[in-house]
Amino acid sequence: MTIGVFDSGVGGLTVHRALVRAFPQADFVYLADQANAPYGGRPGEEIVALTRAGCERLFAEGADLIVLACNTAASIALRRLQQTWLPGFRRELGRPVNILGLIVPTIEAATGQPWTYEPERRGEKVEAVDVIGIFSTAATARSRVYEIEIDKRREDIAVFSQPCPELVPMIEGGAPEAEMKAVIEAHVRSLITRIGRPPTKAILGCTHYEIVADLFRDALPPGTPLIHQPSAVADSIGRYLERHPEYPAGGGGQRRFLTTGEPAEQNGLVKTFWGAPVRFEVA
Ligand code: DGL
Repeated sequence: MTIGVFDSGVGGLTVHRALVRAFPQADFVYLADQANAPYGGRPGEEIVALTRAGCERLFAEGADLIVLACNTAASIALRRLQQTWLPGFRRELGRPVNILGLIVPTIEAATGQPWTYEPERRGEKVEAVDVIGIFSTAATARSRVYEIEIDKRREDIAVFSQPCPELVPMIEGGAPEAEMKAVIEAHVRSLITRIGRPPTKAILGCTHYEIVADLFRDALPPGTPLIHQPSAVADSIGRYLERHPEYPAGGGGQRRFLTTGEPAEQNGLVKTFWGAPVRFEVA
């Protein structure tokens, strides 16, 4: 089986790493749409069109399953593509293919409930006792996907999103650590001020941010744990594969990294995260 991993840039590597650890035999092809990154400030229709083009490319590269390792693409485009484009495309291809996102596993991890959970509502006002803080791109924050989906399952959890629009360009550009630290600390302070107290838990709701998770960890109070999105995604894909034997988990262990941008070695931040230089080929 070939697993395609898609992101606007290097952020999806954080999910790729967790997937490779979980499915070492599978073949992987990673596509970074760096020619069009960042997605987070783009209008929704553009994000849908770019995500669809990325998926077409990954299916053409032989992907059976695509993981959208990008919260922005997953929150804005996934449902649309699954409903309006994928069924016809799958028929044309004549083989089982699917596109999976990362919002569902993250919400399951945040709420401690399966996606299918529907609480009994008594119509009484429920006081929010816990607060989850989400750091994300502007487009993901605007979609309110985390607020809506967590509230459906857990009325006792309040959700506050903090858009961090500077961060993806800084991470793609390999900004110095001191600059990133200052920006991250300012976003954490701003979130805590809006909530009026530290969040009970926090989510890095943009895969790029996981590359600098240590800076978020240091900026957040010690009592605020981070939900680890990449492991939540890998666990959930494992359960998906158990239910879908049409995608056998084996393969040749091949790894390819493609970019629509400049085929070059990725910056020092990525190298530190990955533990080795990462070089992308031209897509
Ligand atoms: N890694 C993408 C995400 O998870 C970044 C989107 C962007 O390009 O702004 O949202």
